[in-house]
Amino acid sequence: MDTARRSAFYIFCVLILLAIPFMVSTAAPQKAAKAPPTAKQASSKEAPSKSGDVERGRYLVEEVAKCPECHTPRDANGQPDRSRWLQGSPIWITPVHPDSNWANYAPALAGFPSFSDEQGEQILEKGIGPNGLPIRAPMHIYHMNHADAMAIIAYLRSLPGRSQ
Ligand code: HEC
Repeated sequence: MDTARRSAFYIFCVLILLAIPFMVSTAAPQKAAKAPPTAKQASSKEAPSKSGDVERGRYLVEEVAKCPECHTPRDANGQPDRSRWLQGSPIWITPVHPDSNWANYAPALAGFPSFSDEQGEQILEKGIGPNGLPIRAPMHIYHMNHADAMAIIAYLRSLPGRSQ
């Protein structure tokens, strides 16, 4: 092989190598394109059916946001106690860096006794408490959509409060 043909051959090889990632990446979306129907099926099952939907609220509280991890007292095994579900609990996590604005107690949510619907929506949609101040850590600053906040409040109101 003379030098010109050899370098032409090298360039050809380099071009093939460069083309491989493109071939792979154009092949991948076809695979992904098959996925949406199942993803859609799954989400349509979970989609909010109507605002203030109690079952939807239970799902968001228990499975998605995990509110009981902080708002339910623990049993002897360190698990959230079902018999005192969402009845308020001391906070067991501490900040890595000292935080003078850290809240040590998560209030009772069962029955949603302490807040109006509007206050609950402001807490869950804007992260602002009834006192007009941002919610303190470790409570999250949520930016939920209105339907989700209403579903959560409806679920919390459906639970027996401490006095019952
Ligand atoms: C990581 C722990 C944690 C999780 C998870 C959590 N909270 Fe809280 N929550 C707190 C703490 C601590 C406070 C007390 C904040 C304060 O005193 O300022 C609080 C306060 C609240 C308040 C009262 C706010 C106020 O200003 O009085 C409401 C209502 C509330 N949480 C609802 C929820 C709901 C609903 C969820 C789930 C969607 C949730 N929380 C998840 C820890 C948590």
